[in-house]
Amino acid sequence: MTFKTIIEPFRIKVVEPIRHTSRRERHTALRQAGYNLFMLKAEDVLIDLLTDSGTGAMSSEQWSAIMRGDESYAGARSFYRFEAAVKEITSFKHIIPTHQGRAAERILASVVLKPGDIVPNNTHFDTTRANIEQAGATALDLPIPEGRRPELPHPFKGNIDLEALVRTLDENPGRVPLAFITVTNNSGGGQPVSMANLRAASEICRARAVPLFLDCCRFAENSWFIKTREPGYAERTPLEIAQEMFRYADGATMSAKKDGMANIGGFLALNDDAMAQACRNQLILTEGFPTYGGLAGYDLEALAVGFHEALDEDYLHYRIRSVAYLGERLTAAGIPIVQPPGGHAIYLDARAMLPHIPQHQYPAWALSLVLYLEGGVRSVEIGSVMFGLQPDGSERPAAMELVRLAFPRRVYTQSHVDYLAEVLLYVNGLKERIVGMRIMEAPPVLRHFTARLEPLGGDLLA
Ligand code: F0G
Repeated sequence: MTFKTIIEPFRIKVVEPIRHTSRRERHTALRQAGYNLFMLKAEDVLIDLLTDSGTGAMSSEQWSAIMRGDESYAGARSFYRFEAAVKEITSFKHIIPTHQGRAAERILASVVLKPGDIVPNNTHFDTTRANIEQAGATALDLPIPEGRRPELPHPFKGNIDLEALVRTLDENPGRVPLAFITVTNNSGGGQPVSMANLRAASEICRARAVPLFLDCCRFAENSWFIKTREPGYAERTPLEIAQEMFRYADGATMSAKKDGMANIGGFLALNDDAMAQACRNQLILTEGFPTYGGLAGYDLEALAVGFHEALDEDYLHYRIRSVAYLGERLTAAGIPIVQPPGGHAIYLDARAMLPHIPQHQYPAWALSLVLYLEGGVRSVEIGSVMFGLQPDGSERPAAMELVRLAFPRRVYTQSHVDYLAEVLLYVNGLKERIVGMRIMEAPPVLRHFTARLEPLGGDLLA
């Protein structure tokens, strides 16, 4: 007999209390935070779905590995374990540890980009975009057309538009020093990229001598989607699938706070010797010596174990299923989400849910605030507050107005997910009363982290 219920494939050894607050307390907390969920105190949040980055629970094996941490400044054993784990999965020649993903992005951008360059990607994450623009280059998003239509189901909605990629490379000879593909496509709904798309993009780039890099934060989740959705991969292990994915790339940037299953860490990996040398020189300036890159030896140990735990089939099955379960509950209630549910998160389509709020009044931001006010749930806006401000200071509406509910790894259980569904259904019942927002004060880059906003009309609900 095979039983249908998919359980959390772990038991719990350490618990961390979470705290209920009253609606009045949350109302005050929001006002004090300038109506910005990033500015809340975490202890005022009941269920924190702000991000799946660095928020996961480590395993007993990882905590044991931490005790083995070798804190030698240079040549620590822990580095070699970390390097071997990354090499087994990626096969890249040079593995450069960094404290997180954006450090890898900054180093790579500073080494390969110059003003006027263009960097295509299926969709750039906000820090990748910011690091590319900081170097004076243009970050170009080339998702397939289906990737911009939240309601449309497609098995590999994270795919890059191959024709647009060819056009970009052929029309800008010498101006594209590298191309990226983000797996899974976080800003586009946590959607996977197919092996066929990776293979084709790789051929296009290699024929034109343009290196292809993977932004591989969620490589294990992408492998699971290939295994379960792409013909020919059902019998392959997630590790074998990941190995094939990396074969089509010339390098990768990784935030190991995601599928590294640890609370901090990242890497830059690549094959080109000269580029690797230049990157290591940059690393030493701001991150640290090349065998620790801003991490403790024990972090490298936790990661060496974590990369493999992320590829465990029972774990991936439970993780992807929990997210899909919430997606099914919301869809059944008529709540518009990016279809199909992503790997690490559900993305609410705020434009479809709140058609009465125009994009310049930030509907997704407003919705995320009401989810906190009513249910103590913290999510994140991926819309016009995050992406609307252009490098020249002008404002342009984002392609989509999404609210992301990102699941930390191995942290919440089925009853937490049922609670989330209840909160979302309740908020859906009062959606006509949600009002738009205006920005009172914001920095010139990555403004969503620290901007202060106000509801138009005094309160979040009319
Ligand atoms: N690339 C992608 C696709 C990401 O999702 C992130 C981080 C980064 C790069 C940067 O990595 O945070 O380690 O510097 N995403 C987190 C999120 C912050 O909430 O999605 P980092």
